Amino acid sequence: MPNVFDFTFGNETDSLKECIARSPILWDELEKQPSKFRVLTGERTTGALHIGHYFGSLKSRVTLQNWGVDMFLVLADYQAITDRTSTEKLKESINEIILDYLAVGLQPEKTTIFCHSMIPSLNQLMLPFLSVVTMSELQRNPTVKEEIALSGTRSVSGLMMTYPVHQAADILFCKGNVVPGGKDQLPHIELTRLIARRINKLYFNGENFFPEPELLLSAPMLLGIDGRKMGKSLHNAIYIKMTADETAQLIKRAKTDSEINISYDPNNRPEVANLLRLYSLCTGVSPETIANQIGAKGASALKKNLTEVVNEYFRPMRERRKEYVGDKAFIWKILKDGNSKANEIANKTLNELSKAMHMQYY
Ligand code: TRP
Repeated sequence: MPNVFDFTFGNETDSLKECIARSPILWDELEKQPSKFRVLTGERTTGALHIGHYFGSLKSRVTLQNWGVDMFLVLADYQAITDRTSTEKLKESINEIILDYLAVGLQPEKTTIFCHSMIPSLNQLMLPFLSVVTMSELQRNPTVKEEIALSGTRSVSGLMMTYPVHQAADILFCKGNVVPGGKDQLPHIELTRLIARRINKLYFNGENFFPEPELLLSAPMLLGIDGRKMGKSLHNAIYIKMTADETAQLIKRAKTDSEINISYDPNNRPEVANLLRLYSLCTGVSPETIANQIGAKGASALKKNLTEVVNEYFRPMRERRKEYVGDKAFIWKILKDGNSKANEIANKTLNELSKAMHMQYY
């Protein structure tokens, strides 16, 4: 997993440092003893996935799957409405994401794909979980704070404040012990650990009914072609599902700088460095070597070659995606099967917990 250890964060907190140090060891354990782990991760259902998602997380999920790690992927449709209220597009987003999963090589026979809105017992776990979390713990979550700031809204919904608790339910309903994610997920994982610990102490005499999951840190995401964060709303993302032509047009528009000679200088030339990193991810050649090869040929040569390697890299995935794109019945069958497996597990977990809480009255 070479690109997974390539961190360039700066000002890390202690717990993030710990996490950075731990992640390569965890990778090693996952490869050697896959049966010790249950991995739970997923995404908000806000639309199709881009190549930043691919290199940041989908690629490593496929690796874990193929090592035989038991993996659950949550399509977090309730989390998609923390900062917006419209729900009409959720269904199409779920369809797109499952197509992307299939394209990149995730296999529903091996990996359970479900959406949390259709797992009632998972959602009910949120109530006992909320009972062990304080308001100030919710209010100081840095990821939530940042999302509120970014959204620019003055009226923050209750779901926005509590979704990390809901996320704990996503993870703990199936007793996930490893959660792949970016560093922004660390506060949520810490909260999940806290909830697990408190519930275990309160209702299970400190026995490990719920595991305390660990964050398996993913590499920082690629930037968009304009040098900003690659994002769905910024029109700066190369999507897995794009055609070769769409990809070419987007890369043609990519921001570079006024210096003609191509060099790899992440601090002073972030946009060029980002293109070189993408090139490197698609070819396995280091960004420095690529920069040397292109050198005086400049940005247009870089973009032309980059377009070719990106299109070549994603061609088989895009072809696979096309095979499934018209088959809605197949996509919904995948979700239905995943949901039914998740429901079975969630019912069992909730049943055991409510028994321990003396809440089965007859
Ligand atoms: N918070 C994650 C994101 O914004 C999505 C998510 C929801 C998630 N539930 C999860 C991630 C459980 C890991 C585990 O992308």
